[in-house]
Amino acid sequence: MRTTWNFFSAGQLTFGTAAAGQLGKLMGRLGVGRVLVLSDQVLGELGLLARVCEPLVAAGMTVEVFDEGEAEPTLDVVAKAAERARQFQPDAVLGVGGGSNMDLAKMAATLHTHGGKPEDYFSFDNIPGPVLPIICVPTTAGTGSEVSSAAVFTDVANQIKVSTLSQYIRPNLAVVDPELTYSCPAKVTADSGIDALTHAIEAYTAIDYSALDVIPGDPVAYEGAHPLGDCLAERAIALVGQFLSRSVADPEDREARDGMALAATLAGMAFSNCGVALVHALEYPLGGALHCSHGAGNGLLLPYVMEYNLPERVNKLARVAELLGADCAGCTAEQSARQAIEMVRQLRLEIGVPDRIREIGGTSEQLARFANKSFEIKRLMTINPRTPSEADLLEILKTAL
Ligand SMILES: NC(=O)c1ccc[n+]([C@@H]2O[C@H](COP(=O)([O-])OP(=O)(O)OC[C@H]3O[C@@H](n4cnc5c(N)ncnc54)[C@H](O)[C@@H]3O)[C@@H](O)[C@H]2O)c1
Ligand SMILES: [Fe+2]
Repeated sequence: MRTTWNFFSAGQLTFGTAAAGQLGKLMGRLGVGRVLVLSDQVLGELGLLARVCEPLVAAGMTVEVFDEGEAEPTLDVVAKAAERARQFQPDAVLGVGGGSNMDLAKMAATLHTHGGKPEDYFSFDNIPGPVLPIICVPTTAGTGSEVSSAAVFTDVANQIKVSTLSQYIRPNLAVVDPELTYSCPAKVTADSGIDALTHAIEAYTAIDYSALDVIPGDPVAYEGAHPLGDCLAERAIALVGQFLSRSVADPEDREARDGMALAATLAGMAFSNCGVALVHALEYPLGGALHCSHGAGNGLLLPYVMEYNLPERVNKLARVAELLGADCAGCTAEQSARQAIEMVRQLRLEIGVPDRIREIGGTSEQLARFANKSFEIKRLMTINPRTPSEADLLEILKTAL
């Protein structure tokens, strides 16, 4: 039985209102002189890019902006960003945006330091050593990429999402300024918010760290559920229960926005240590083929996977119900656990996340391929509390069709 667990995060996390204004000082302490900022045109037009770059320029840094980032970035965009880094020769990269731009920064840093192609680093622990310093500034409340070891892209040719997982791409500095999320439109707020909930629930209900079959001291992609991860996930779930609907219904609700920004970062700390599992595994081929956002795909699948995992995770799912605000007085653990699934369904409905694969254009003919591709992502299968067969995955997808 495994007796130890680990915890990693960003080198420094600075969180709170107006935190972005401190970027010049914070990055000065890291010794940054030339910074490549990875962003997109939407953020440029909204003035968010300027809010991040101005403190850097004021601190005397040379700033180069790459604003060709896109949602769910393709490998072509990664290549362009890496080429810009080669031309500019930065001594740090800064990703400002949602998970898409932050992940782009992580891969640009990797390619700049180690050369090669993104494919060389896919899967777990394939980056050979430290990379250029990475600074992440999220503008969505969702992915937790600002503290995570992951970077996710779209492989257009193979119609699948692909990812790199390495402790070397945890950002050196994460600056979370909730004000930067206030301009998110309802769909981005909903999709990224339910991604954060998925992170927290998958981390919380993952296989126990003690049950993970690994050699002590060897690096692992994910640790399984552990006490520190549980603390973070519980708080994140409670914050989502309190604030996600509110922040979708009223974009001006600052308390809700701030609560979701915290939820997303805490959920990022939880999942990037303890793990994500079947929901994410099923979303990779689904999102790659149907081009839904990562959050919408996860939100769609989440209750179906909770249902599948219920036999192995009754008590933890019962606690999820309480954390989401259910009145579980007089209920058995199983009744409460079922209530958790119902509450996630209800939340999804309230915020407009789809309930069925067919709603996002999927057909029954595609399901066998989705099941097969998901089943190949072994690191996510092993972290799930219930070990699925490929046939189980197909059943889940059929129920969700
Ligand atoms: N690295 C990780 O740990 C991790 C974890 C989960 C998901 N992901 C990946 O992150 C990506 C999804 O990221 P996301 O959900 O943050 O969305 P996103 O980065 O794809 O952004 C979605 C859209 O919202 C816009 N946007 C972002 N912030 C805005 C703001 N403040 N105001 C107005 N518009 C804004 C963007 O310009 C973009 O058009 C996916 O590729 C997913 O696979 C990564
Ligand atoms: Fe995710």
